[in-house]
Amino acid sequence: MAGSTYIPELAEGRATEAREAARHGLVVRATHWIFTLSFFGLVVSGFGIILAHPHFYWGETGGIGTKPLFSLPLPTMLGGPSGWGRYMHFQSAWIAVLAGLLYVVSGVLLRHFRDEFLPSKAELTWSSLCGSLLEHLRFTRPTQDESYNVLQRLSYLGVVFVLFPMTILSGFAMSPSITSVFPWTVEVFGGHQTARTVHFFLSDLLLLFLIAHVAMVILAGFGSRMRAMILGRAAAGKEPR
Ligand code: HEM
Repeated sequence: MAGSTYIPELAEGRATEAREAARHGLVVRATHWIFTLSFFGLVVSGFGIILAHPHFYWGETGGIGTKPLFSLPLPTMLGGPSGWGRYMHFQSAWIAVLAGLLYVVSGVLLRHFRDEFLPSKAELTWSSLCGSLLEHLRFTRPTQDESYNVLQRLSYLGVVFVLFPMTILSGFAMSPSITSVFPWTVEVFGGHQTARTVHFFLSDLLLLFLIAHVAMVILAGFGSRMRAMILGRAAAGKEPR
């Protein structure tokens, strides 16, 4: 049997290649794209629902003849697209919630969030945060380093653990069948109409995140990042843009 020689550079090279190759696990990729599809369903149907009544109120009650908190500059199409809009919204929402739950449970069990999302103490200093922010404002192309930068980590944590759960909760607060069993879901908001208004603003924040997220993916190299998020592997060596 031929003897083998340990060459540190070779071993290190293989380790690097292995790290580069495996980028996103199957559950992360599958749930990410299922969630993205259902999010588009939510946006389209949400717009349909708003068109039926583009006025927002505060407190428990509000409707035609009541003074709104604010109105969107859209035509009021009473009855219009809200029928199919509601069906599509509820269907998309449950798919998003189930995909999100699977993502969160597997991410906790596999320590994905701890390893990939939690910023280190050094990254949470003002100088590091400002440096990262300046790089983003200058549209500096990120390195092809496989780990997320501090702003990515913080925004992913915010979306996964704050924004998305709050959006679900404010959605639950508008469902009579859910509030009849769990009245606290609407009580924490102070009324159905407040929950609707808060839901609208939280959804806008999710849309803003989506725009910034896709812009960053384009800046970082659309081809390579998408390839990694679809196939799970980044191209070894020089990555395609
Ligand atoms: C509302 C919709 C979306 C949400 C909430 C979302 C959220 C996320 C999150 C949390 C991650 C980190 C995944 C992880 O490692 O656990 C991620 C990664 C990623 N997302 Fe999205 N995403 C959305 C839509 C999109 C869209 C529309 C695209 C592409 C057009 C996209 C492309 C990517 C890519 C390429 C990555 C990997 C980034 C990297 O490796 O640096 N996402 N997304």
